[in-house]
Amino acid sequence: MTRDLRMRWLTPALALLLAVGLSACNSFTPNTIFGAHSEFGHSVDLLTRRLLYLGIGVFILVEGLLVFILVKFRDNDGTREAQQIHGNTTLEIGWTLVPAVILAFIAVPTIETIFKTQAKAVPNALQVEVIGHQWWWEFRYPQFGVITANELYLPVGRTANFALTTKDVLHSFWVPQLNGKRDLISNHTNYIWFTPDSSFAWNGFCAEYCGTSHANMRFKVFTVTPAEFDAWVAHQKTNAVGSAPPPAAGDSAKPGAAPAVLSVATSTGASTPAGKDAKAPVATPVMSVADTSSSTYPRTKLPEWVIPKTPIPAELTFDQNAEGDVARGATLFKTAPCIACHTIRGVPTAAGIVGPNLTHVGSRTTIAGGLYPNDLKHLELWIKNAPAMKPGSLMPLFGKAEKGATPGVYTDQQIADLAAYLSSLK
Ligand code: CUA
Repeated sequence: MTRDLRMRWLTPALALLLAVGLSACNSFTPNTIFGAHSEFGHSVDLLTRRLLYLGIGVFILVEGLLVFILVKFRDNDGTREAQQIHGNTTLEIGWTLVPAVILAFIAVPTIETIFKTQAKAVPNALQVEVIGHQWWWEFRYPQFGVITANELYLPVGRTANFALTTKDVLHSFWVPQLNGKRDLISNHTNYIWFTPDSSFAWNGFCAEYCGTSHANMRFKVFTVTPAEFDAWVAHQKTNAVGSAPPPAAGDSAKPGAAPAVLSVATSTGASTPAGKDAKAPVATPVMSVADTSSSTYPRTKLPEWVIPKTPIPAELTFDQNAEGDVARGATLFKTAPCIACHTIRGVPTAAGIVGPNLTHVGSRTTIAGGLYPNDLKHLELWIKNAPAMKPGSLMPLFGKAEKGATPGVYTDQQIADLAAYLSSLK
């Protein structure tokens, strides 16, 4: 290759390298591992840096010596034979000892960090049980009797101790900016703990291939102030809003007796309570969405990247004229197949444990294991045809047959009612 030709390639090659390099620091990367926000993250960060700097030192030393020797002892004629040093005890001890010492420098802090971050329990920690399912996350707070799914709330500054297990296959719990990964293994509990240092909304992932929708097994972590956390817990402990049994006639004036039915986006704001006789004159307190938002991470503060933008499968359609009714949905839900798999506290018939606990599903930001935003449109399509929305979904299809699909049981109108009801469970 002539010098000219070489120069012709060098410039574009350097430009490409520069472009690739600069694009790496282009924008905010929410899922980076290089931005620790817990002491777990900091200790892993520190370890990574130590090892990186040590590695750079060794690299420079070795390569420097190599280049120095190559230049200094260059044999231009190619006639001399290099000096043979086989059997030099001093040298052999030297090149055995030096790597051993270097490895010790790597091993000691590494093992120390592994043991420190695998400690089973931290005294006074917030206890959280993490249970992996294909393909969603169950979170239990045994100290408070709260069970939720796909969204974790953690108080800033308090250590959270996670006990990890799985209901089916291997999964791995990972919130890139808060902690390292830890596997969820059947018949064995793994532990991990960390203390969030700042208030924010974080993305979490399954980091162990677990089947068709492994990449669709996501969750959110909302780190909030201790007071906000207490408010969230207090709210999560309550029965589902709008799901309480309808008050008997004349009971409606009793404080707390009437169910507070949330008006959802599509309803008129004057919902009737759940019950067979929707005409009964009941003074139903209608809460606005803002009333419960004090206990959840404020929607206005949600970073844009927290809400998934998963495209809806093109073949899925929904009757645009079907307007959901909370009361009708509540009545329908009580005997719907949904109750075989889902629990809604306050609805006696709904006690299934195969699927996510839906007691406050309306207060969550996402559905379907973090795959779609939690709004009526996505919820309706999800109920209608979950397997089309999420490959391998264990939740079956419930929409009535459309273009040769397996027949489900519900019309779009019924599904709209169910979705309106579920959305009202803030
Ligand atoms: Cu669960 Cu991958």
